[in-house]
Amino acid sequence: MKEVVVSGIRPTGKLHLGNYFGAFKNFLKLQEQFDSYFFIADYHSLTTHPTPGDLSASVKRVLAEYIALGLDPEKCTIYFQSDVPETAELYLFLNMNAYLGELERVTSFKDKARTQPNNINAGLLTYPVLMAADILLHRGVKVPVGKDQEQHLEMARTFANRFNRLYNNEYFPEPQAFSFEQNLVKVPGLTGTGKMSKSAGEADTIYLDEEATSLNKKIMRAVSDSGPTEPGSPKSAPVQNLFDLMSLVCAQDIIQFFDDSHKAGTIRYGDLKKQLAADMETFIAPLRDKIQTTMGDEKRLMEIAQFGAEKARASAQKTIREVREIIGFGNR
Ligand code: ADP
Ligand code: TRP
Repeated sequence: MKEVVVSGIRPTGKLHLGNYFGAFKNFLKLQEQFDSYFFIADYHSLTTHPTPGDLSASVKRVLAEYIALGLDPEKCTIYFQSDVPETAELYLFLNMNAYLGELERVTSFKDKARTQPNNINAGLLTYPVLMAADILLHRGVKVPVGKDQEQHLEMARTFANRFNRLYNNEYFPEPQAFSFEQNLVKVPGLTGTGKMSKSAGEADTIYLDEEATSLNKKIMRAVSDSGPTEPGSPKSAPVQNLFDLMSLVCAQDIIQFFDDSHKAGTIRYGDLKKQLAADMETFIAPLRDKIQTTMGDEKRLMEIAQFGAEKARASAQKTIREVREIIGFGNR
């Protein structure tokens, strides 16, 4: 039996470089080798956007992006989370054994509670339980995600193990965060602070369909510093971010050149940014074209979603049947 891969992305906006290099790039390779489930986490987006109508454009958009960027509905299962209501039943079962204390300690919960103090809803608190349900619903073991999801994966393992212990079996395997890179990836934003993210604002984020002029503008305005204070001085955080972005799209000798000139104290950040903008445009141009073409074919996209929902439900129904049996709802 092939190992099961599961991952999702919340449809709260367009896909960006962080999504691509943190998660999606791995999806492409994994679909070739494993039994893979890639979904659009629209239930999850209710924790921050309570009305799905506000998101309907980006929900379809993310599906188009999945297809345009190379996911193949024949090789993997692509679906909307809300098309698989079995997710909600497993979420309910797992919630019965998820404790308030451990949920309150999750970093993403604490962050969100800070950013939306008027909507600290129970869904936000139990976000990691829903995520565990997504994964365990297909008994997933490999979960391609970026570095920011590490803690959620740890929780998924906790819930899987707790279920197994409680019902005295080995039903759920332990899911692990996965990347083909040596470490889980964190793509920095352009404003010199944290990770690139949909919620961090336009100036911080490079979208996969970013137009050439806006791409150039964003990169040229990216935060750097006033230059190395003396030869050999270490890179400041925002400059390290620029080098990290270069490592995604620039050739090794180019990176080496700028690294050497930083060490020598002769670096010109304007030149570095020009080079980064040019190489980024070379990377993005074909993606931008493909996303635009794919978005236009709504009929095909809806067929893909329906086909995916059927495959995902078949897998989910099997798990739910077995889980009900294990918990004890089977012998009535
Ligand atoms: P966002 O943070 O923009 O809202 P999501 O939370 O929906 O994006 O993330 C979807 C996937 O993309 C996750 O696997 C996440 O780890 C990955 N990801 C998002 N931003 C980054 C980033 N800056 N670096 C690496 N991976 C990222
Ligand atoms: N929480 C993930 C994020 O914000 C999205 C997600 C939801 C997910 N369910 C998942 C990722 C299951 C992997 C597996 O990025």
